[in-house]
Amino acid sequence: MSLPREERLKSLGMWPVWRLREGGVEADAVAPVSSCASASLAPKPAAGAAERERAVGGDYARPPDLDQADIADMDWDALRQTVESCTRCPLHESRSKAVFGVGDVAADWLIVGEAPGAEEDRQGEPFVGQAGKLLDAMLAAIGQKRGANVYIANILKSRPPGNRDPKPDEVAACIPYLERQIDLIRPRIILAMGRFAAQSLLLTEASISSLRGRVHEYRGVAMVVTYHPAYLLRNPADKAKVWEDLCLARNTLLSSQSKSNTGD
Ligand code: URA
Repeated sequence: MSLPREERLKSLGMWPVWRLREGGVEADAVAPVSSCASASLAPKPAAGAAERERAVGGDYARPPDLDQADIADMDWDALRQTVESCTRCPLHESRSKAVFGVGDVAADWLIVGEAPGAEEDRQGEPFVGQAGKLLDAMLAAIGQKRGANVYIANILKSRPPGNRDPKPDEVAACIPYLERQIDLIRPRIILAMGRFAAQSLLLTEASISSLRGRVHEYRGVAMVVTYHPAYLLRNPADKAKVWEDLCLARNTLLSSQSKSNTGD
């Protein structure tokens, strides 16, 4: 006998459900949240390779087989093929499949996670496990869905064994791929999910709670930081904060669209 829907969603940590309501986006969130309010802007400088090298210090090892400048010149197909056969860091030895990313290559929304987990490593697609289901629900709450105006990628394209934290030299080896993806997609908004993605992109050790609630900038694209869906599965009470972050991202995107429509 199957469980009622509410029970099933509760067991996934996904209840209360977030819904798109008529006339706008609102959530049935844990804490009372209302409609999306206006965005606050606090642009941050984009992270460059030299800064990254300094930030990761002694752990940084420039990968030998491929120069960063080569990656920066690649078209989408070449980039995908290169990632799928990449040996720039030792993670290629233990991965099943590299996880390039999925979605609309002309998307306004870019979602950036940490690294593939076990299921993603098997399937070669990001966010296909439990955290991915919650990410899909979060996207639905703001009227978006995987594959349509949304692209999903990770900082690392290969799974760290046992889901351990990525190492600085793995990030240094892999991040040129994400940078090229961003330059080719040119999204209007980046949503960095989780401490690791936020800190890797912004080259900071600041806490996620201090990075949330404002608009950063990465490679000339507005960026909002929020909690990782896997964290949210463990801490559903923070769903209301994530809703605020989604609203901030959505409002930032809408205001950039209206500026480009009026030619500002
Ligand atoms: N967590 C991530 O950060 N990325 C995935 O693709 C899956 C889980």
